[in-house]
Amino acid sequence: MTAPSRILVVYYSRSGTTQRIAELLAAELGADLEPIREQGEHSARSGARGYVRSLLDALRHRDVRVMSPVHDLSAYDAIVVGTPVWASRASAPAVAWLKAQRERIRHLALFCTLGGRGSQPALDQLAKAAGKTPLAVCAITAHDLRRRIDGTKRQGFGQKLRHRLAKLQQTEWID
Ligand SMILES: Cc1cc2nc3c(=O)[nH]c(=O)nc-3n(C[C@H](O)[C@H](O)[C@H](O)COP(=O)(O)O)c2cc1C
Repeated sequence: MTAPSRILVVYYSRSGTTQRIAELLAAELGADLEPIREQGEHSARSGARGYVRSLLDALRHRDVRVMSPVHDLSAYDAIVVGTPVWASRASAPAVAWLKAQRERIRHLALFCTLGGRGSQPALDQLAKAAGKTPLAVCAITAHDLRRRIDGTKRQGFGQKLRHRLAKLQQTEWID
């Protein structure tokens, strides 16, 4: 019997929605959990000023500074990265984190939370920053949360990720 894959869920969240989904996903996947922490002058994102700064960071593809992860990424089979959508893009801290850590990531899965528009370009941007095709992706909208169908989406995402990892584990052992 093969050992279950080790998964780390990493997320950036400005106002708590992505954090909530990341916590639920981690519990459902039996994964570890870590927030992306910013440093430097762009880290204050609360209130109207923080909103505008976040919008501009996303629109102008500004590089922001993020802290190194606490967990050792090389100990994980897959890293799941979650971001809010900002102006139909991924949040600047999530992009910066993936750019900095891309070499340490074996397999990648991605999710985003959003009001309703722009999930695909945001997820594409994260995949590009990581230089990897994600094993599974998931977008959770405000509508999904209101209708309480986010659980079904998380479940589908988790199942796809576990299934793909199990298949990879088989072929990686054969190689
Ligand atoms: C600066 C900014 C830009 C946003 N742009 C979009 C957008 O283009 N499309 C969308 O559907 N939601 C947009 N939203 C809404 C967030 O993606 C959504 O509320 C998300 O769930 C927030 O996650 P968080 O609470 O983890 O920060 C934006 C929010 C902010 C703060």
